Amino acid sequence: MRVTSDNYSTVDLDTLPINSDWDGRDVSENLMHRIHAYPAKFPAFITTKAIQYAESKAVHVDTVADIFCGCGTVAYETVKAKRHFWGCDINPVATLIARTKSRHYDDNCLASYYEEIVKDFALQTFDPRDAIANNERVKYWFPQQQIEDLSKLKQAIETVVDDETYREFFLCAFSNILKPCSRWLTKSIKPQVDPKKKPHDVLSAFSTQVKMMQKANQVNEIDGGLAEIETTNCLSKAVEHSFVDLLVTSPPYVTSYEYADLHQLSTLWLGYTDDYRTFRDGTIGSLHGENHLPEHLKHLNHTGQDIVFKLYTIDKSKCRSVSQYYIDMQDAVKKVYELIRPGGATLFVIGNTEYKGVKIDNARHLIESLLDEGFEDVEVERRKISNKILTPYRDSVGKFTTDKNSRKIYSEEFIIFAKKPLCQNN
Ligand SMILES: C[S@@+](CC[C@H](N)C(=O)[O-])C[C@H]1O[C@@H](n2cnc3c(N)ncnc32)[C@H](O)[C@@H]1O
Repeated sequence: MRVTSDNYSTVDLDTLPINSDWDGRDVSENLMHRIHAYPAKFPAFITTKAIQYAESKAVHVDTVADIFCGCGTVAYETVKAKRHFWGCDINPVATLIARTKSRHYDDNCLASYYEEIVKDFALQTFDPRDAIANNERVKYWFPQQQIEDLSKLKQAIETVVDDETYREFFLCAFSNILKPCSRWLTKSIKPQVDPKKKPHDVLSAFSTQVKMMQKANQVNEIDGGLAEIETTNCLSKAVEHSFVDLLVTSPPYVTSYEYADLHQLSTLWLGYTDDYRTFRDGTIGSLHGENHLPEHLKHLNHTGQDIVFKLYTIDKSKCRSVSQYYIDMQDAVKKVYELIRPGGATLFVIGNTEYKGVKIDNARHLIESLLDEGFEDVEVERRKISNKILTPYRDSVGKFTTDKNSRKIYSEEFIIFAKKPLCQNN
């Protein structure tokens, strides 16, 4: 459906017919997409579909970008489609996975590095002065045996694997075994200890993980290609010239994941920080941050203001986080506009949520932001996420609940496509 500045505020997006072209449930994903767990992963087929859709709207697509690249779903599919990819994410764990995924590896090199790592692990001795092993958070999450083994394993990877690309492959494997080897409640989207959990043995978890990644590499559909992936806050990315033909992305949401907290085991063990909370700064959608509400109200668009006002009487703290989120999303749209060349396009995948009965209408806010920025030909499609949702409500750790005061998840989301005009009016 076409949305314009005249109808964006009144159009009922929730009654748009579901477009089964964007369903994709029958499309199988390459195993490379499963090498590392990642929250809110994007369905892989959407990239190919987005390229076809943009081309059907007369956009010539050589370079695809994603400013919230996460674990690199768009990156992988773009390289597979033999186009150039540029992307960024603020979280170094995300960009490590994205880089690892968008490369092809020599099977023999993987096998011989793996053998050497296992041999070297047996020779390593645990250094009790190791800074990571002594980090209070690490001690909180891991039993001593796992701490010692993880420390030796990381040391073995760093000693044996001299090639940077292959080292990242094994560090990515290392990162994905951290949760199973810890006391972290399995599949929880909130950091929570499971007192009954028996953490996995480090070397056997690593062996299973590496075997799975080797198998994925054998069916990897990319062979070379170019993916440039930066660890950066997209809002502060300096754009010297617009070079993107199509930007495909799924932004973070405000009431769902606290990415910095979720990745703390990896950020600590990989040495990216000794205090994972530093990664909350700049992460869009984080509930932590200062109160800039009065200032934000002057800059929020109409949809943003409307939602923030509704939340104000219900929960002032949530209201502040949502206002920060919408300001950040407006700035993200400005950045997207700068990155895309005239005549290029963007495609967002975005869903709505609900908080204590207030609809967090991310889709309408995004449409208004795109129109305000100067995008045109805005098209909205509605797609089904899953047929299997028993209840739309989730509790604080992400489990199903019937409590209607909990976080509500919709089982549909929106595909929002927009073009940057060839000739700019301003
Ligand atoms: C919904 S996820 C993207 C998932 C991705 N499409 C995938 O398939 O993995 C949103 C991502 O935005 C990232 N993010 C949040 N704030 C950011 C910022 N200021 N700059 C860049 N990335 C950011 C988060 O780290 C997270 O990886």
